[in-house]
Amino acid sequence: MKKVRVLLYGVGAVGSMIAKVLLEKKGVEIVGAIEVAGDKIGKDLGEVLGLQKKLEIKISKDLSVVVSRTKPDIAIHTTTSYLKDTYFQIASIVKHGINVVSTCEELSYPYLTEPKLAQQLGTLAKKHDVTVLGTGINPGFLMDTLVITLTAPCQKIEKIEAVRNMNAGTRRLPFQKKIGAGLTAQEFNRKIKNKKITGHVGLEQSIAMIAGALAWKLDSISVENAEPVIAEKTVESREIKVESGKVAGLRQMAKGFIGNKEVITLDFRAYIGVDEEYDAITITGFPNISQKIQPCVHGDIGTIAMVINSIPKVLNASAGLVTMKDLPVPSAATEEMTKYVKF
Ligand SMILES: NC(=O)c1ccc[n+]([C@@H]2O[C@H](COP(=O)([O-])OP(=O)(O)OC[C@H]3O[C@@H](n4cnc5c(N)ncnc54)[C@H](OP(=O)(O)O)[C@@H]3O)[C@@H](O)[C@H]2O)c1
Repeated sequence: MKKVRVLLYGVGAVGSMIAKVLLEKKGVEIVGAIEVAGDKIGKDLGEVLGLQKKLEIKISKDLSVVVSRTKPDIAIHTTTSYLKDTYFQIASIVKHGINVVSTCEELSYPYLTEPKLAQQLGTLAKKHDVTVLGTGINPGFLMDTLVITLTAPCQKIEKIEAVRNMNAGTRRLPFQKKIGAGLTAQEFNRKIKNKKITGHVGLEQSIAMIAGALAWKLDSISVENAEPVIAEKTVESREIKVESGKVAGLRQMAKGFIGNKEVITLDFRAYIGVDEEYDAITITGFPNISQKIQPCVHGDIGTIAMVINSIPKVLNASAGLVTMKDLPVPSAATEEMTKYVKF
């Protein structure tokens, strides 16, 4: 019986977590793994994933060789956040006639910040008869696709607000460091200045995707600098202790305007010691809609699910560059993967 053949392109934190879930899943098999550079090349995937067994899949940097030997249906691309850095990686996969699901944040809605690369990638995907999608939990779902879905029963919409209030203490250590947990406010601001802390990538893309779905022509989108959230008492995660007065994490806002009216507001907060974790969406319109997910969706678990659940949607889609708003209603693919795919 045919299985969906998956190529991993990037075996970092997210790529590895996806691989472990795919290994347990029926109707799908990992046939190859690519890393562009680094000491994982040449190692067995099982060893890199920390499993007790070999998987007989050697991590390679040579895409052409791996593709011609393994004939994947789809690549799971999980390397980095900006399209200018990932374009040639993704284009090289597409040129081999392989579909792509990527966690590259900018690819989730690339038309605003990288219109030329988006157009090139779309043309290339059509030429090679494959589909390319950027997705994840955020961008990809919580602050865009879910928001768009909730607008469906509205006759009028004045304003949309989405808040993600997340306890960073439950996320892995690199994430806690990425949001500045444990730093002084001065250190945090210095790291923001020299771009060692970038804040959340994808807010601009989420706003543009919502506006695109609603056919709103925004006059501007502003993404504010990430601000430190200062701990009012000592808080700690398993790995980091944040004393009172130090940085527990960050908050970042982004806004979409029509004229000078703020019509879309995204408010992203991730810090250690959050009292209440939630994802909330408020639509002011007719009718008003107010939705709250408590606790908020776990970022890593949600990202892995979004990527894996998107595999059949991408395989079934028409060729080209697509975004989450172009695909059918998102849903889980918890059964054998082949049940969802029109081969
Ligand atoms: N949309 C979402 O919701 C969402 C959620 C989670 C993650 N993401 C994004 O997904 C990407 C992967 O996340 P991660 O946590 O797995 O990152 P990671 O642990 O740094 O892993 C990335 C992998 O790609 C490699 N890599 C890094 N930079 C590269 C480059 N410029 N070119 C080629 N390979 C490169 C790394 O190799 P080395 O180990 O040798 O550096 C590593 O194997 C990130 O951009 C992250 O922001 C998005």
